[in-house]
Amino acid sequence: MRICIISGSPKGEESITLQYVRFIEQAFPEHTFPIVHAGRDIKKLEGEQEAWDEALAKIQDSDGVFFATPVYFMLVPGQLKRFIELVFERNAAPAFSQKYSAALTTSIHFFDHTAHSYLHGISEDLGMHHAGLYSAHMEDLKSEDEQMRLLLFFSDYLDAISEKRAIPREYLPLPKVSPSYNPSTQSTGVDTHGKRVVILHDARNGSDQQAMVRQMAALFDGKATVADIRDSMMKGGCLGCCRCAFDNTCVYRDGFRDFWDKYVVPADILIMAGTIQDRYLSATWKQWNDRSFFNGHVPALKGKQVGYLVEGPLAHLPNLREVLEARAMIGGANLVGIVSSEAGNRAHIDAALAALAERSIRLADQGYIMTETFSAIAGRKLFRDEIWAHMRAIFQADDRYYRSHGYYDFPTKNYLQRIGTRAFSLFLCIPGVRMKVKKDMVSYMVRPLQEVVQKSRVIKEWRARKQ
Ligand SMILES: Cc1cc2nc3c(=O)[nH]c(=O)nc-3n(C[C@H](O)[C@H](O)[C@H](O)COP(=O)(O)O)c2cc1C
Repeated sequence: MRICIISGSPKGEESITLQYVRFIEQAFPEHTFPIVHAGRDIKKLEGEQEAWDEALAKIQDSDGVFFATPVYFMLVPGQLKRFIELVFERNAAPAFSQKYSAALTTSIHFFDHTAHSYLHGISEDLGMHHAGLYSAHMEDLKSEDEQMRLLLFFSDYLDAISEKRAIPREYLPLPKVSPSYNPSTQSTGVDTHGKRVVILHDARNGSDQQAMVRQMAALFDGKATVADIRDSMMKGGCLGCCRCAFDNTCVYRDGFRDFWDKYVVPADILIMAGTIQDRYLSATWKQWNDRSFFNGHVPALKGKQVGYLVEGPLAHLPNLREVLEARAMIGGANLVGIVSSEAGNRAHIDAALAALAERSIRLADQGYIMTETFSAIAGRKLFRDEIWAHMRAIFQADDRYYRSHGYYDFPTKNYLQRIGTRAFSLFLCIPGVRMKVKKDMVSYMVRPLQEVVQKSRVIKEWRARKQ
């Protein structure tokens, strides 16, 4: 069989992910593996018809399409995102249609699931049967157990093709949402209380995104700074070279860093506006997010109030919502809200934008940051472990930050707690004590919290403040 590999890494032949493909190639010499270097060759594919036709012919002539890509910012690299956009823009879906697809990623498993959901949805939008995923930690190939797992996975994928396996569609097609938001001209402005408000966007003329951005700026009484991310003059997407890891300096000499320093760093309130293209925002936003990788694995939006304005069928894309929410939360920001124009009801969108503006100022005044949920907490622990275990040799800037901000908070370091827990566990070996604790388990757990409710100093202060 011919399995067309769509490689997402900008590193081309030096891609870590591609080594997994080379491994498969060695194990299945009876099959051929033409490669489309979507990540490396995106400029050529976009600009040169011949290169595009050649890539499409490889896909067309294959029995299966196999995405092999690194995870970048919870999705695929901006370069691969652009390739996917081109497929839709150039009506190239028939080259993929009815084929069997599968996806292999390498990463450190931070939001690999959202990258896979995206590729799964895209595969189905292109009319393919998505046969499965393989999510490798970038080092996995060194392990023989993982090598075997990879071969079993790939052999199952080949079986899916040869037996024409019935695979139910998981992601419903997205509804078309046409621009229809025409904001009210009678909005009441919000006093920004001296807070710096920045609205970043990539709106096209006449789009709902543009209408929402204008309305949002008007709500801040013209005090918000509005900037188009295309004006950051990026020369290209992140190259994955990781040279920024030592001291947060990117190899590109273009306008991105100045743009970041000018707009993102000083913002107290950061509103990001985008339009859904396929199952994410635009490839420009994706590239812009990838380029912010120079910050490393630190909360680069710490203390900010973040809001999103989204044009398109967001209610049908929980995966995109998860990515947007996680970006804010893991960035250390407070997610004030996401307003989407899909409702199409002017009064409703007006009111949602007004609430977003008002709350962002109020919450900035109060210094409120939402509680973290699983993804942010688990994500930070994952970074902590990965950076401490080996990445800190290269990611020295992260290491410095983690040390100075107490991020290396392994429970093993809390000796008092360890001794206490061990002593308590030994104590529970005494049958009488264990019986008593079992009997009183519920009240034992709740008692300390009941005491807080009774005696909290914060409640007293809060009440005094309100009088
Ligand atoms: C810009 C950028 C963003 C990344 N984002 C993620 C991420 O969201 N989750 C993750 O687990 N790893 C992330 N990584 C790590 C890569 O996925 C990992 O290094 C991958 O193995 C690189 O594969 P490649 O050599 O094929 O490009 C990121 C790396 C870069 C350079």
